[in-house]
Amino acid sequence: MGKDVIIACDFASREQTLAFLDRFEGEGRKPFVKIGMELFYAEGPSIVRELRRREHPVFLDLKLHDIPNTVKKAMAVLRDLDVNITNLHAAGTVPMMEAALEGLTRPDGTRPLLIAVTQLTSTDQGAMERDLWIEKPLDQVVLHYAENARKAGLDGVVCSPLEAEKVHAACGAGFLTVTPGVRFADAAADDQKRVMTPAEARRVGSDYIVVGRPITAAADPVAAWRRCVAEFVG
Ligand code: C5P
Repeated sequence: MGKDVIIACDFASREQTLAFLDRFEGEGRKPFVKIGMELFYAEGPSIVRELRRREHPVFLDLKLHDIPNTVKKAMAVLRDLDVNITNLHAAGTVPMMEAALEGLTRPDGTRPLLIAVTQLTSTDQGAMERDLWIEKPLDQVVLHYAENARKAGLDGVVCSPLEAEKVHAACGAGFLTVTPGVRFADAAADDQKRVMTPAEARRVGSDYIVVGRPITAAADPVAAWRRCVAEFVG
């Protein structure tokens, strides 16, 4: 695995997801896909097994956050689904992240990549201060959480492409930045507030970009995916 475009498969059902992905038959490879809570809660682990059976690399985006023992056991279940990347909330603390890694690691020492959500992009400075009683500047909080994730042994973080350079500077070039909030230069931003094009995300050093509607809602999703890969991976 290296730099790649991950398609956010934000569909409500297995049928919709597989019909969408069938359009990529005949491409040289199976696109990397992200499965989130909506599809996972609707269809369960079988949708993950099906996509792995069809040889799609899978990022399972379930954002775990609970006591360390519970997260460790949940991660042991995800480990056996053979996903490529999964995630949790860094807010769960360093011991929770360490327990997650333990649960995710197979007896032979291999494991899926594990990345952390720092602060959700829906959380702004005001909400952090008002609801969470966190008074530090948001960008410092993001970097602190990223450093905690690195300390715990995780492989990277989900972050805005605007934060990718700072995260690499603080945590090292090998620490993965997986970045949503990507739009083509000639397209609408939808509800994303801070966006970058795939080419800009490449310039700031994002390792993976997560792209939903610019591909899933395109008139020709395969052409949109190809364009995204060409701009981001080259
Ligand atoms: O359609 P769009 O490209 O906006 O989809 C982006 C995907 O990335 C969605 O699945 C969304 O939930 C996810 N995401 C995000 N911002 C975050 C974390 C995840 O947009 N901070």
